[in-house]
Amino acid sequence: MDYLMFQLEKDAQTPLYEQLYNGIKEAIIEGKIEEGEKLPSKRKLAEYLAVSQTTIEFAFSQLVAEGFISSEARKGFFVQSLEELALIEQELPMMTQEISDTDQLYIDFSPGKIDTESFPFTTWRKYTKETISEANKDFLQLGHPQGDYVLRQHISSYLYQSRGVKCKPEQIILGSGTEQIMPLIIRLLGKEAVYGIENPGYPLTHHLFLDDRKKSLPISVDMDGVIVSQLEKTKATVMYVTPSHQFPTGAVLSATRRSQLLSWAYQQENRYIIEDDYDSEFRYTGKPIPSLQGLDQNQRVIYLSTFSKSLMPSLRIAYAVLPESLIMQYKQKFSYYAATVPRIDQHVLAKFMESGHFAKHLNKMRKIYKRKLEMVTKTITKYNPTVMISGEQAGMHILLTIHTSKKEDELVLLAKNAGIRVYGLREYVTEDKDVSAEPKIVLGFGGIDIEEIPSSINALMNAWDIKKHRDHN
Ligand SMILES: Cc1ncc(COP(=O)(O)O)c(C=O)c1O
Repeated sequence: MDYLMFQLEKDAQTPLYEQLYNGIKEAIIEGKIEEGEKLPSKRKLAEYLAVSQTTIEFAFSQLVAEGFISSEARKGFFVQSLEELALIEQELPMMTQEISDTDQLYIDFSPGKIDTESFPFTTWRKYTKETISEANKDFLQLGHPQGDYVLRQHISSYLYQSRGVKCKPEQIILGSGTEQIMPLIIRLLGKEAVYGIENPGYPLTHHLFLDDRKKSLPISVDMDGVIVSQLEKTKATVMYVTPSHQFPTGAVLSATRRSQLLSWAYQQENRYIIEDDYDSEFRYTGKPIPSLQGLDQNQRVIYLSTFSKSLMPSLRIAYAVLPESLIMQYKQKFSYYAATVPRIDQHVLAKFMESGHFAKHLNKMRKIYKRKLEMVTKTITKYNPTVMISGEQAGMHILLTIHTSKKEDELVLLAKNAGIRVYGLREYVTEDKDVSAEPKIVLGFGGIDIEEIPSSINALMNAWDIKKHRDHN
């Protein structure tokens, strides 16, 4: 067979089996060996190429694993259908297309981006090094299904001090992101639960709860957060809220609405509130907003938060604080689940919290995001009253209301064509009826360097053909 004519280079750095694997793979892709053709036996090929049969075996098993050849018992190895291989080939241009598409975007106002310049790499590296050591061999085994106790202890005291959340470490469950914890909560609350979701709201909740439309009811949001009087008229039994900084409008749930929401929950045995406190660390004006969990007297609040904003979204560590009654049920139902957060990461984070670095990091980041927000506000003020800001009390995103004849989709597209990523409020809306037609844009500023904020916003306004107000020129 011609394809066997190639030489294996015994002194090369690439292992022999890999050279053989590459040689046969190329021969198949180039059509030098046809579909259905039988490969020589491992013994013959080993003799011919003067290598061990193990080398041939390694190469063949890799080719089988990737679907280039198949093994038929007692018959040998055969080249697989080229059609399937063609599919693999066809996918590549699409992937390249996607990559070049995002490459073209040079300003990203996504709300999920954080500041990466100020991450304490040295400290994190130090604690990672300390954690990965023979002294901690036990970390190679599975830990507690709810997450290791030491980290839950640090989280519980941090929550008490910073958010007034009252809980024992035993009530905390860790998960690799809010998105991993939420389905568990839904299963825990059972099939009877009917969910109220904020509208507009966090897309994850829309995806999760809207799978079953009868069981999820969009509740409108205004400048004071979710409209509880609307919730009261529905059959919802569980309300998902982001009270400290509504996602995505940025509204803060007013004190009246907070007590109204808690009273709603107390009216029936099976009612709960899921409080998602995802970015409460970053509040810039006034006193911290107390958590609903801290105000709750009747164990009706399931508190959720994450390290995605305070540290990094790629860490994938979030947690829920369950009321005592639910944690008992959780233990009964889910004790067979291993924790979804790697133990090494849990312990690096525990050290980071224990040493006081987490508190320091939060203080530093609060100042950085505050400065970024001030820069955003200062730049956008020049475009008042055409462009107005709201939701700027906390977090890393704000809402822009644009007084223009252009539609929201058009604004998003114009920005995209200028290489700028922004999201229209409508992308977060479940049912359109309650949302005014005026275009609103969600603008995340966490990931943009402070020096680049003015030019990035000016570029956005330019893309929309919005001029600075003459008083500010
Ligand atoms: C409302 C809300 N909840 C939670 C999160 C964090 O999710 P996760 O913990 O899965 O990263 C975000 C992230 O942007 C969010 O906007």
